[in-house]
Amino acid sequence: MEDRNNTIAGWALFSGIIALGLGSLSAHYFLADKPERPEKMGYEIEGVVSSEGGDAGGAESIEVRLAKADVAKGEGTFKKCQSCHTITPGGANGIGPNLHGIAGDVVAGARGGFAYSADLKAKGGNWDWATLDAWLKSPKAFAAGTKMTFAGLADAQERANVILYLNSQGGKLTPPAPGAAEPAAADAAAEAPAAEASEAPAQ
Ligand code: HEC
Repeated sequence: MEDRNNTIAGWALFSGIIALGLGSLSAHYFLADKPERPEKMGYEIEGVVSSEGGDAGGAESIEVRLAKADVAKGEGTFKKCQSCHTITPGGANGIGPNLHGIAGDVVAGARGGFAYSADLKAKGGNWDWATLDAWLKSPKAFAAGTKMTFAGLADAQERANVILYLNSQGGKLTPPAPGAAEPAAADAAAEAPAAEASEAPAQ
């Protein structure tokens, strides 16, 4: 009986060892224990605005933000645009068109023969405060097939700053006087066309 117990104990021990070995083998095989496995899978793109979040709802109207906008800060933000845009009068087109006097000018108008995307051309009209705000928040939401591969500026005040800077460089729009806009009413008015614009199907 002693012998038999020993044999049983031995087999139990043996199968335990086998199980351990198999476990670590399969871990190796499937690379579950691979040390270089990244902590976060996938990659993030800087500056992406999440579709649910953003500043919808909470943001002040563009008029209110413009009234307290800072052109110097806007010029700083424009550094993010300079890899693709010049803004000097008669400046060359790069990956994007020259932006001198763009505020108030025709959307996707002929700027030195720049080849615009069909979706931006289809927008028509002239750039105003609200359309520039929507465009810079998310170029893709504004014109789905746009060639401007820029994620957008999530910070609502940063957009107002850079838009005021754009206007200071040959723009034709009249900045709202400080305190001119009534926050509540202007908010609703400014949000509505922006939302429509982003939902409008590309023609
Ligand atoms: C990666 C390059 C790139 C960056 C960065 C970029 N843009 Fe653009 N931008 C473009 C391209 C390309 C177009 C033309 C879009 C189209 O045809 O759909 C464009 C178009 C525009 C237009 C419309 C011009 C017109 O003639 O109607 C404005 C306004 C504009 N960009 C502003 C900005 C601002 C402001 C920034 C920085 C906050 C910026 N862009 C960053 C490439 C860029």
